[in-house]
Parts: sequence; C-alpha cells; structure tokens
Amino acid sequence: MTAGVGACRVRAGSAPLVLGIETSCDETGVGLVRDGVLLADTLASSVDEHARYGGVIPEIAARAHVEAMVPTVERALSQVGLRHRDVDAVAVTVGPGLAGALMVGVAAAKAYALALGVPLYGVHHLAAHIAVDTLEHGPLPGPSMALLVSGGHSSLLLVPDLATSDVVPLGATVDDAAGEAYDKVARLLGMPFPGGPPIDRAARDGSPTIAFPRAKATDGTFDFSFSGLKTAVARWVEARHRAGEPVPTADVAASFQEAVVDVLTAKSVAACRAHGVDTLVIGGGVAANSRLRALAATRCEAAGITLRVPRPGLCTDNGAMVAALGSLQVAAGVVPSPLEIPASSALSL
Ligand SMILES: Nc1ncnc2c1ncn2[C@@H]1O[C@H](COP(=O)(O)OP(=O)(O)OP(=O)(O)O)[C@@H](O)[C@H]1O
Ligand SMILES: [Mg+2]
Repeated sequence: MTAGVGACRVRAGSAPLVLGIETSCDETGVGLVRDGVLLADTLASSVDEHARYGGVIPEIAARAHVEAMVPTVERALSQVGLRHRDVDAVAVTVGPGLAGALMVGVAAAKAYALALGVPLYGVHHLAAHIAVDTLEHGPLPGPSMALLVSGGHSSLLLVPDLATSDVVPLGATVDDAAGEAYDKVARLLGMPFPGGPPIDRAARDGSPTIAFPRAKATDGTFDFSFSGLKTAVARWVEARHRAGEPVPTADVAASFQEAVVDVLTAKSVAACRAHGVDTLVIGGGVAANSRLRALAATRCEAAGITLRVPRPGLCTDNGAMVAALGSLQVAAGVVPSPLEIPASSALSL
C-alpha cells in the first residue's frame, strides 16, 4: 500500500467531519465528530464473551472486531443521516492495545481513508482518553494535568498540547493498573467482570472501615502501585474464610475503593501543585467511578484546581474519543499519517 495522504478535504461552509475508529481492546467503537461536536458514538462490545474467563481473550476480541467493524460504522452514519462521502478524515487508535484487535481497526481505517480519498490520523489510545473530555468541556487549557486510569494504565501526564501529542509522562503504575486491581478484587469477592462497576455499586452500601495499605502514597514520586493492595484484600478475605466468618462484601469494596481513590487523587493534586498547573482532567474507565469523581471534586476544590471529568459513558473505550482527538489534530493542522502506519501494541506517548 502506498502513502496516500493529503490536506483535509473540506466542503465549503462546514468544518471537517472526522470518523473515529477504536478497537484496542474488547469494544468496537465508532465516533463521528465535527468541529469538536459529537454527532454519533456507536459501540459493539464483546465483553460478555470474555466474562467467564475473568479477562479479555485477545483472539476472541479480534474476531469480534472483524464481525462488528462495518456494521458499527454503518450504524454511526445512519444514526445521523450521513453518508460515507460526508467523511472528511479518518482517525484510528494505532496503539497501545491488543495487537490483533488493533490490526482490525487500523486495516479498516486505512481502507475507509483510501476508498474515500481522505487523510488518515493514527492516534494514541491514552491521548484519546484525555481528548474525549473536550467534547463536553471545550478546549483543554495548556498545560493541563491528566490522570489516566483504565484497565491497563494508571498514569499522570503533563499535557502542554494534546493536539500535537505534546504529552509528558510524570508517573505510571509499577505493577497492576487501577482498573486491573478493580477487576481482580471483584473476582475474589465473587463479582462479575469487569469489576469496576459492581465494586462501585457495592461500596455505596458499605463503610471504608478496613485500613488497607496505600502504597507509594507518600514516596514523593507520581508512580502508583496497586498489587500490594490487591494482595492485602485477598489475605483479609482469606482470614475471614478460615475463621468461618462471613465476608462483609460492601465494607471490603468500600475500603478497597477508598485506598485506590485516596492515592489517585492525592498524587494528582500533588502533581498539579508541583508543576503549577490549575486544571486536572481524569480519563479512562476508572474515571467512571463515583467515589473517584466525588473525592477528586472535593480535593480539587480545596486546592483551587479546576476538575474536568467526562460523563461516565465516555470514560470507557469508545469511538468518540478517537474522533475527538482526530478532530483536534485536523484543526491544529497536524500532518496526517502515512497509509503504511502500523498497529503498535506497545506504543509509548
Ligand atoms: N465505575 C467504575 N469504577 C471503577 N472502575 C471502573 C468503573 N467502570 C469501569 N471501570 C474499569 O475500567 C476498566 C476499563 O476501562 P477502559 O475501557 O478504559 O480500559 P482498557 O481500554 O481496557 O485499558 P487501556 O485504556 O489502558 O488500554 C476496567 O478495568 C473496569 O473495571
Ligand atoms: Mg481504554
């Protein structure tokens, strides 16, 4: 395939319509964004096919993307009465993520871009998780701080300019990601996968009275560690079983959750202070968590930091976030990607 890129074709009187494609994990997401406005956001998920394994099975995810890709694009376009030829640019997640899953979306995006004669923008999945917030709250002031908490990442990022991928990683998880910890703790409490939503719900009926450890809370870095917390919860639950006592699931969920969000919010505020930044944006699936949203709001208000968190439905993987970042790149005049751009499962920021 040869490079086939060019300036964005823009019809007179209308801003470019960007088609966004996301297939990095188990969600086939398609979004349509014009000039920072979300027009369509359609999703096909294979999550039910993975639930019995307690985690995403890459081969199952990739096959599901193949089946869902074209119908999900058709659904997005027909929802808003648009046609293929209305699309002015195609954006796609090129990494990080599951290699086979990414390849399906990247191949589809290349095919659409080539067939429609429009530019292709390969985008970074984590940058897209941050960019989705602009659909609800407008342009992100530069520099902003971003806390990215998802199934595979817990990262603090200084973001001078998202559109040009000017993102500086300050800290990351040294072991389990925040979402991964939710999924593992949910499993040991007998809750379904993915574990974030059921723990969030159970915690509302419990009290955070069990003192689980807060690793790295005061180490002065912006790194996170949640595997010790997960082990501490497992040991606590095992001790209850051994003693023949019932496990107070709601209290365990609330206490585990409090330990996670305490460290996430404390480090985010500290990172803002250390870098003189007064806007914090939280993205990724764990940003849907009700306690994280509440505690972040309280601590940011106390610290004079403006908090921006997308609505829960936009926090987990979706196509809108990819279209949002593509739209920002088009507007900033970023050079499109060559059609040879590969899917990169370990893409760094
Ligand atoms: N309300 C919630 N509270 C806590 N965690 C949640 C909530 N909703 C979803 N999650 C967690 O979010 C994660 C999924 O988020 P997301 O879709 O962003 O991750 P991913 O795309 O698999 O990972 P990455 O973005 O790092 O590649 C899961 O681990 C899930 O348990
Ligand atoms: Mg994600």
